[in-house]
Amino acid sequence: MARPKISLIGGGQIGGVLAQLCALRELGDVVMFDIVENMPQGKTLDIAEASPVDGFDVSVTGTNDYKDIAGSDVVIVTAGLPRKPGMSRDDLIEVNSKIMTSVSEGIRDNAPDAFVIIISNPLDAMVTLCQKITGFPSERVCGQAGVLDSSRFAAFIAWELGVSVKDVTAITLGGHGDTMVPLVRYASVAGIPVMELLEQKYGDAAKAQEVMTAMVERTKAAGGEVVKLLGNGSAFYSPASSAVAMAESFLKDQKRVLPTCALLDGQYGVDNFYVGVHCVIGAGGIEKILELKLDETEQALMDNSVAAVKELVGSMNL
Ligand code: NAD
Ligand code: LAC
Repeated sequence: MARPKISLIGGGQIGGVLAQLCALRELGDVVMFDIVENMPQGKTLDIAEASPVDGFDVSVTGTNDYKDIAGSDVVIVTAGLPRKPGMSRDDLIEVNSKIMTSVSEGIRDNAPDAFVIIISNPLDAMVTLCQKITGFPSERVCGQAGVLDSSRFAAFIAWELGVSVKDVTAITLGGHGDTMVPLVRYASVAGIPVMELLEQKYGDAAKAQEVMTAMVERTKAAGGEVVKLLGNGSAFYSPASSAVAMAESFLKDQKRVLPTCALLDGQYGVDNFYVGVHCVIGAGGIEKILELKLDETEQALMDNSVAAVKELVGSMNL
């Protein structure tokens, strides 16, 4: 049986890590496409030459020709500019819409059966654009942002409480921007509500709330924190790991429940619109959306996030 084929559209910072992670996990044969002549060929040759050391037998190749993504099972898109210090993700919409248009046409024409995971920012808008241009069913076009945002939230909680990251469940909903919704009520450590543990740690409900609020705000601003520290580009290790978790759930039919930018059909009062929600990802792609029962405050935050994404998508005049 042929190995699965994973094509990476964009061979930059995230693309390079994606290629190496997919190879190390032997998820399938990897093809990296980029418009920069020979760069993808060089990066993938470098990764492939470590295969005897790393012990993987999948192939890792680069190309500047869309024809080489033919037969892809998964396509992961990072083509697009990252933001610079002081920029919001939304500031990228004009330049990255142009790139996403050509990329989506390339995917449509060369990998018509692929499960597509978008990473390029502004994420929710780019997923919307890709699905429209490819015309693929919505269960095969999604975006990676919530896995990363939730992972950041979980990491901050684990570090604050001094517990293993493996035992922290923390989730975000909504758009991949400043209006994202880290859900405090659903945050837990081995099933224990995080707020309970914070109140035990500080012996004071107000202090516990203050600490949680700081972690929520840090989660929302976490992308910018890395951008500021790097000074040139944005996070790339954590987004790559996050997208690989989604690709693996599809390729191995794991049915993982992962926060994903997906097309809603009525959930949270939202219809026919892409935003971050909990999805079951399996061999059928986005197989199911699991809707949480939000309280009034949470619903208002979700409404606010959806409104922000709608405003941005509206500016594209699709
Ligand atoms: P990068 O600049 O390192 O890589 C982008 C690559 O895209 C470059 O190699 C460039 O040559 C390529 N490219 C440009 N136009 C192209 C085209 N028309 N076709 C194919 N390739 C093209 O950037 P990066 O750090 O890898 O980030 C990529 C994107 O991911 C950015 O938009 C960034 O904002 C976004 N991002 C998203 C998340 C998320 O969680 N969704 C996290 C971090 C970054
Ligand atoms: C960023 C990613 C996290 O732009 O979206 O920093």
